[in-house]
Amino acid sequence: AIDPNFDENREVVDTHEGHDVWGPVDEPEQLGIHGTHVAVDFDICIEDGACVEDCPVDVFEWVDTPGHPESERKADPANEIQCIDCMLCVDVCPVDAIDVDST
Ligand code: SF4
Ligand code: F3S
Ligand code: ZN
Repeated sequence: AIDPNFDENREVVDTHEGHDVWGPVDEPEQLGIHGTHVAVDFDICIEDGACVEDCPVDVFEWVDTPGHPESERKADPANEIQCIDCMLCVDVCPVDAIDVDST
């Protein structure tokens, strides 16, 4: 599961589509965590797609990640600023790859 304290235990190493990327990153095998308010651990995501389908405000967009051992597509929190903290994505992800900081 994603580390809920990633913002203390990791460092921002890059930005992508306007959000932070928390390392370590070693492409293509290790991709880190994308986003801060809506954070997706790309190294855990298995391309299930429930988050993409269920988010009521379309926070997520697919990004291709060829060569990653878990899946070749990830749910990127491209519109994390739109998040309404409903927590649906957190509940539906089968591998607990998503953390939403609703506090
Ligand atoms: Fe979308 Fe709700 Fe997840 Fe926010 S908490 S990204 S609104 S599903
Ligand atoms: Fe990935 Fe979980 Fe969404 S596996 S595609 S973050 S439901
Ligand atoms: Zn991203």
